Amino acid sequence: MKNLIDHPNYPADPNIMKTHHELECLVLSKIQEEVLTWVDSNTDYLKNANDKSFWHLIDDVDMARHCPSLMKYMMSIKIPLREITIGVLTESMKDTGFNLHMGNPPLNIKINFPIFNTEDVYTEWYDIPVEDLNKLGVFKNPHVTSFDAYNYDLKKLHNVVQELYPCVTRYNMHSHPIVFNSWIPHRVMPGPNAKYPRIMVATMPIKEPTHLLTK
Ligand SMILES: [Fe+2]
Repeated sequence: MKNLIDHPNYPADPNIMKTHHELECLVLSKIQEEVLTWVDSNTDYLKNANDKSFWHLIDDVDMARHCPSLMKYMMSIKIPLREITIGVLTESMKDTGFNLHMGNPPLNIKINFPIFNTEDVYTEWYDIPVEDLNKLGVFKNPHVTSFDAYNYDLKKLHNVVQELYPCVTRYNMHSHPIVFNSWIPHRVMPGPNAKYPRIMVATMPIKEPTHLLTK
């Protein structure tokens, strides 16, 4: 049978690909400070406890201008960016976390930065056979407008995934930026001591550094 989403190496095989890769970053605290200052003066993320959308589109050119350490760091690791977004886990997602999902082809890799309230929040990647993904069905991603992008309807498994499938990695992003594999189903789950809002930055490279995720 043909997969509902037919693209080479999709979904990623956790036996071949890593879920994430930690990058050395000596200027992380400076990046965090600059991003948080920009967030505080340009958004309401620090005050809005009810938002459940998680991803926020921002004026990334303005943000980049005010976060020179982030741009300098990306230059130093030779990964130029095409887009920056901000992910916010609010108090309203305390009991649920952020839905199980995975990225849609052709885009896979992000470089993610822990920014604020990063302790006791975990990204969990699950190994779900593609036959089971096909059974979930797909939906058209409303956020992608430049082409028809489809995603497996993983939301259906959000509350039961931990009982049905092996968790490949449970990771607390706090001390390093990471190269992030979005082609393995994942969700973001807070622990009992998590603080809100938990803020992270996701950056999309122009050319994906796939070699950094190859085992
Ligand atoms: Fe994701």
